[in-house]
Amino acid sequence: MNGTANDLLIVGVRPYGEDPVDLLVRDGVVAEMGPGVAERHGRDADGGAIDMVRLDADGLVLLPGFVDLHTHLREPGGEESETIETGSAAAALGGYTAVFAMPNTDPVADSAVVVEYVRRRGEEVGLVDVHPVGAVTVGLEGAKLAELGTMARSAAQVRVFSDDGRCVNDPLVMRRALEYASALGVVIAQHAEDHRLTAGAQAHDGVVASRLGLAGWPATAEETVVARDCALAREAGAALHVCHVSSARTLAVLRAAKADGVRVSAEVTPHHLLLTDTVLSGYDPVHKVNPPLRTAEDGAALRAALVDGTIDVVATDHAPHAAQYKDTEWAAARPGMLGLQTALSVVVHALVEPGLLDWRGVARVLSERPAEIAGLPDQGRPIAVGEPATFALVDPDGVWTVRGATLASRAANTPYEGMRLPATVAATVLRGRITARDGRVARHDEGQGTP
Ligand code: DOR
Ligand code: ZN
Repeated sequence: MNGTANDLLIVGVRPYGEDPVDLLVRDGVVAEMGPGVAERHGRDADGGAIDMVRLDADGLVLLPGFVDLHTHLREPGGEESETIETGSAAAALGGYTAVFAMPNTDPVADSAVVVEYVRRRGEEVGLVDVHPVGAVTVGLEGAKLAELGTMARSAAQVRVFSDDGRCVNDPLVMRRALEYASALGVVIAQHAEDHRLTAGAQAHDGVVASRLGLAGWPATAEETVVARDCALAREAGAALHVCHVSSARTLAVLRAAKADGVRVSAEVTPHHLLLTDTVLSGYDPVHKVNPPLRTAEDGAALRAALVDGTIDVVATDHAPHAAQYKDTEWAAARPGMLGLQTALSVVVHALVEPGLLDWRGVARVLSERPAEIAGLPDQGRPIAVGEPATFALVDPDGVWTVRGATLASRAANTPYEGMRLPATVAATVLRGRITARDGRVARHDEGQGTP
């Protein structure tokens, strides 16, 4: 059987870090997989090379493409910090094949018009599936429910709703949102922060904040909202997703709710897994984020919770901010940090290297569970014949030094500046099409390049 230009041959790759195989990808789907597939297909009858794209993947680990449930792409309205194009490039370079774009844009994504724009722009760029998250309340103001049904039924097919950046603080509004979510079969992703408890807060409420003279953000502001929301989700029979869990105290609440059958899932960010509030001593606003970086004990508890499944997924909370919003005094700086291109490396550093997670575990927290939570049918799938060829190819021995200026994002606010981190993304494949390779993105209108 001869190959066609639509075929992709991935040679010598290790699915989930296991024994090497070759994969023949045809029409975006894995057509054959196993040892020796390349020998059978890589040459024509006369021994000449066949016209198909070949990815030599010796030593690379093959994982399902990553799915980020929490990305800020800033478009429309915040293009000085990120665009759907630059954010999609960062995602593809980070091994992502789908991202959920948060609605705290300008205008807010609280209507069919805006979510359809985000979805369509994502398709035009074509590097990653961009799924708009719809706002829960009009203008993210927390008062009046947005038209969840209209957004769900629109061409954007919104499946996740959130007021992220703000908490849906009013219990009655949250209860109604969960009731609608239950009826519509969608997920409410809550930024759990009781704003009454965090008024003026600048850092984790602990010894570091006291020493630096920064007003404290207490962990109870998260814990109490999660406890309340779990009760409301149980009552409504709705799916609740807790964004960026930052505190050990919240984990006990999640464990109890899960044991009780509540439909609750949770995410942790790479920065809460790796960094602690001790980095704040330099007063560099690059470390300002909401929820704030917490203690080493919180970090250890979050890592353990991800391993035992109390926390389901790693989500980046990729939050680009242009220099004019970030290079200011601490109190004026916007919270948030870049995450898409460093997430895998941070997960490897914080969890794989210490032996807490293997590659199967990485696939679970970066791809399979996020796709399940959001109900994506063709992402986070097993690596097998007949399944979509949607992959991240990871070099486990790669090492790189993070430089914000060279990341694909429009902004450069990475908290890992200058750090040497393990694991690089050698290539990303979306339904059989290479979207990133060797640190460069491949736009779909450019073709696959020569084999
Ligand atoms: O640090 C954060 N940045 N936390 C949020 O909840 C919002 C985000 C943003 O939009 O910048
Ligand atoms: Zn948030």
